[in-house]
Amino acid sequence: MKERGDLIVENQQPNIKTREEACRWAVMRVRALIADERDWVVNTANAAAAIFESWKEVSWAGFYLMKQGELVLGPFQGKPACRRIQVGKGVCGTAVSERRTQIVPDVHQFPGHIACDGGSNSEIVVPMMRDGEVIGVIDLDSYSFDRFDEREGQALEQIAQMLAQDCDWNL
Ligand code: SME
Repeated sequence: MKERGDLIVENQQPNIKTREEACRWAVMRVRALIADERDWVVNTANAAAAIFESWKEVSWAGFYLMKQGELVLGPFQGKPACRRIQVGKGVCGTAVSERRTQIVPDVHQFPGHIACDGGSNSEIVVPMMRDGEVIGVIDLDSYSFDRFDEREGQALEQIAQMLAQDCDWNL
């Protein structure tokens, strides 16, 4: 069981200068936060908070989980968001149907993009896979254009893999 003192250490932001460092920091932080805890709500809530805080220019960071064949809003940081997304719809539903990361530099150019916040201009969505099935997605939005690339993609894929493996998913 984690003690309060451990969390204070994990919440101390080191002096981060580059995007690569910020990506590594987010992965390390999520790994530390989910250690010795298997509840998926606890871990996705802390992961959303850690990612949101670790990276600049992120307006929304959170999870949609697959429940009865559709994506349902899970823990997040940011403004209230769309509650349910059909597979194949929007950036999130496309990440599920194509089973791969979607990096969208300009959401206005993405056919079928679902605008939960009219200020959003770029987005990244990473599927979480377990036993060959998509169990949910990690979704990040930004008011900046072209905020995300393969650096964030790889970091989020590592985070998605850790969460998929290290939580009990009673969805
Ligand atoms: N833009 C997403 C919807 C979810 S919000 O960004 C939080 C999409 O097109 O799937």
